[in-house]
Formats: sequence, structure tokens, C-alpha cells
Amino acid sequence: MAPMRIEIVADERALGLRAAAIVFEAIAQKPNAVLGLPTGDTPTAAYAELRQRVERGDSDARNVQGFAIDEFIDVAFAGRGTNAAFFAAHLHFLLPRLSLPDSGTPLPEREIALFANELRAAGGFDLCVLGIGANGHIAFNEPGSGLDSRARVVELAEESRRAHAVAFGSLDAVPRRGVTLGVADILDSRAILVLAQGAAKAAIVALAIEGPQTADVPASWLQTHADVTWLLDEAAGALLHRR
Ligand code: GLP
Repeated sequence: MAPMRIEIVADERALGLRAAAIVFEAIAQKPNAVLGLPTGDTPTAAYAELRQRVERGDSDARNVQGFAIDEFIDVAFAGRGTNAAFFAAHLHFLLPRLSLPDSGTPLPEREIALFANELRAAGGFDLCVLGIGANGHIAFNEPGSGLDSRARVVELAEESRRAHAVAFGSLDAVPRRGVTLGVADILDSRAILVLAQGAAKAAIVALAIEGPQTADVPASWLQTHADVTWLLDEAAGALLHRR
């Protein structure tokens, strides 16, 4: 197994530029690349760079197919705080070619099963971009998610709900459930890029990279994949022993 690559850059801006460069390398190699895309504060600088490069005509993403890796449920489609609303704000140019589960579905089990089928039919991810939650989650695979977990409906951890309180307007407005691709679905990707920034992520990043492989830290399962790049800023990489 190839060891995971670790790249450390100075700050948020450098992280955004480098992440966008890695995504465009994947698109240059395969213009119809299938990409997994996270939400959150971490990827927004990268998404701004992607947007600008496409708008300037420097890069062509016309044939790319994007998939959200998770979504809230029990809330109207594209309502405030949803991942659909996030992508409309940050990656508008990709919307016609972006698949995401319907957060308003009355049948979430069916919705996420169809979504996972659609991803399989597209050939799976050429590159799956991930963030990491402060509790070690990837997508909405909260602590307790096993190596073989698949796309499913999940209960969100309180910590994760709190992180979204501002986006939804209040903690009460944050849904209690979501749908997510599973750890095994993410590990089916041909390549994985994990982004983390800021001192608040330093401890969990060190555990995920250097700690034991365990469901307590779902991001630690990435150690089992042959092509993973961790792209960190200095603050997020500060507690790594091997650098
Ligand atoms: C969210 C998402 C994840 C994301 C994570 C980190 O809940 N479901 O896909 O990676 O939290 O978010 P942030 O980048 O804002 O720290």
C-alpha cells in the first residue's frame, strides 16, 4: 500500500490554489472526470478558484460530472443551510452537471440508494474531494462508521449539527438526519483528496493520519486506500509527527 501523501501549504489561500490545481490536473487527464465534492468552510477557497478559472476560460470543466457526497434530509430541497444551497452559492457553473440527493424526499432510504446507483452508473469517482469534521467524520460518516459502511440514512452527531447552526439560522433548524455515501463508497474512488485547515483540525488530522484505523475516527479508514493526498495548511498539520 502506498503511504498517504501529505502536502502542507502556508494558509487558506494557498490551500485553495493547490486544491484547485489538483482538481484541474484530474480534469486535464480525463475531461469527463467524475468528482465527489464536499461542502463546508474548508473547500470554499478552492471552489472560488475553480469558478474563476472556468469564468476566465483558463480551464474547461464542461464535461465534468460532480456528485455531492452527502446532504441533509427532512428539509426542503435547496432550502437555507442545505448542501444544495451551498453548491448553488459556490459552484453555480457546475449545477447542470451536479447530482445531489433531494433533501426534501419523503423516502430517504430510496433516495440515497438511487443516488449511489447513479454514481456507480457514472463509473464511480475519479477523484473524491473530502473535508474532515472535528470529530473525524468524512461526508456524514460520523464516529462509529465502519470500513464497509455504504450509502445510507444517518443520525447527525450533535457536534456536526452545531457546526451548521449558523448556516441554518439556529441549532433547532439544523436537521437531525442526513444521507451520505458510506466509507466503502468513498474508498471505491480511484483517488482521494482530503482538505483540512486551521488549528481546530490539527488533533483530529494527526489521529486520522497517524493513529489506529478505527470507526471512532472514520477518516482513519483512508489509510487503507492506495491513492490519498492530504492537503493541509500549517495550522492543521501542526501536530503531525512525520512531516
Ligand atoms: C460537514 C460535511 C463534511 C465536511 C465537514 C467539515 O458536516 N458533511 O463533508 O467535510 O463537515 O466542514 P468544514 O470544512 O466547515 O470544517
